[in-house]
Amino acid sequence: MRVLGIESSCDETGAAVVDDAGRVLSDVVQSQISLHAPYGGVIPELASRDHLRNAGPVVREALSAAGVGWDAIDGIAVTNRPGLVGALLVGVQLAKGLAWARGLPLVGVDHLVGHLLAVFLRRAPKEGATVAVAAEPPPEFPFVALLASGGHTAIYRVDGPSAEQVRELGATRDDAAGEAFDKVAKVLGLGYPGGPVIDRLAKNGDPKSVPFTLPMGHTKSFELSFSGIKTQVAARVREHGLPKTEAELAGTCASFQAAVTSVLAKKLVAAAVQEGVRTVVIGGGVAANRELRARVTELAKEHGIRAVLPELASCTDNAAMIAYAGLVRLRAGERDGYDLIATSATSLPRSTRKGRGAR
Ligand code: KG4
Ligand code: ZN
Repeated sequence: MRVLGIESSCDETGAAVVDDAGRVLSDVVQSQISLHAPYGGVIPELASRDHLRNAGPVVREALSAAGVGWDAIDGIAVTNRPGLVGALLVGVQLAKGLAWARGLPLVGVDHLVGHLLAVFLRRAPKEGATVAVAAEPPPEFPFVALLASGGHTAIYRVDGPSAEQVRELGATRDDAAGEAFDKVAKVLGLGYPGGPVIDRLAKNGDPKSVPFTLPMGHTKSFELSFSGIKTQVAARVREHGLPKTEAELAGTCASFQAAVTSVLAKKLVAAAVQEGVRTVVIGGGVAANRELRARVTELAKEHGIRAVLPELASCTDNAAMIAYAGLVRLRAGERDGYDLIATSATSLPRSTRKGRGAR
C-alpha cells in the first residue's frame, strides 16, 4: 500500500509518498522560511498564498521523486488540523480535487498525530534511491511521547496510532518549547526560526554561565511552562545589553537550551516511569535538538527504558509523517468525505489549562 501525503498547516508545503512499512519513497518540503524571516514569524496570509503557488508542483515532484505514477497510489492523506486555517485549506482542497479526479480514498490527518508517528518512518540514505530499512526497529505500543514543536508541547501516553488512543499526561500552560527557542532567538537578534541557530551556537557555550530556571521544572506534575524563561532572557538583555562576545552569546544559548531540554527529558522519562511504560519517543521540530536527543537517550537508559528517536528529517514539518498517519487510518478502513473541513484545533485530548495558577 502506498499513500500520498500533503502538508500545508504552517510554513512548509510538503508532499510525500510512503508505503505500509513506513518507508519514505519521496519527501518533498518547500520551505517558506525566507519568505517569513524578515517579519520574525509566520504571516498567515503570505503562507496561504505561497502554499497555493507551490502545492501543485510539490505533489508532482513527490510522485516523480518516488518514481511512481498515479496507478501506484492507493490513497491520499492531508493535514486538516491543527494549523493556520487559510494554509490548511490549500492542502485540503488540493487533496479533495486529486482524490476526486483519481477516484482515490481520502483521509484527513491531525498534524500532531503525524508528529507522534514520525518515529515509524524509514528513510533511505538518499530518497528515491533503493530503500534501506533503518537498523533500529520501530517502537511498540504503548509508549510515552514528548511532542515539542513551534505550536504545541505536551507529553502523551500513546496506546495505539489513532487519536482516540492518545492520552495527554501534561502540556505547556503557555508557550510551546519551539516558540521559546524562536522568541529567545528574536530577543538575542539571531533571526527566525530560532531552534536550529540556538542549537548550533549552544554547542560551544558554557551551559552554567547563566543561571536560568524553568517554572514547573521542579514540580512532580507533567505540566510545563516556557514563557518565563523568555522573560528572563529579555530582562537580562534590558539590564546588560546584548551579549558582547561570542563566548557570552554561546553561553546564553547553552544555558537556555540546557534549562529547556533538561526539564523536557526529565518529565518525559518520569512520565514513562509513572505509567509503567518501557518505551519513550520524541517528535516535533524541537526533537531535532542535539542536546534534547542526547539527554533523552541518556536518562532513558539510566531507567532501563528504550528511547526511540525519529530521524532529523522526520522531526520538523514534513508530509511523510502525514502520509504514514493517513495510511494507518486507511488501512483500518477509515475514510473522510469531500465535506472534510480544516480547523485550527487538534483532535487530541487536552487536559492542561492554559494560563497561570492551579487547575
Ligand atoms: O514541528 P515543526 O517543524 O513545526 C510546527 O509544527 O510547529 O517545529 C518548528 C519548531 C520551531 O519553533 C523551531 O525553532 C523548532 O521547531 N526547532 C528546533 C530545532 N529545529 C527546529 N528547536 C530546537 N532545536 C532544533 N534543532
Ligand atoms: Zn509540526
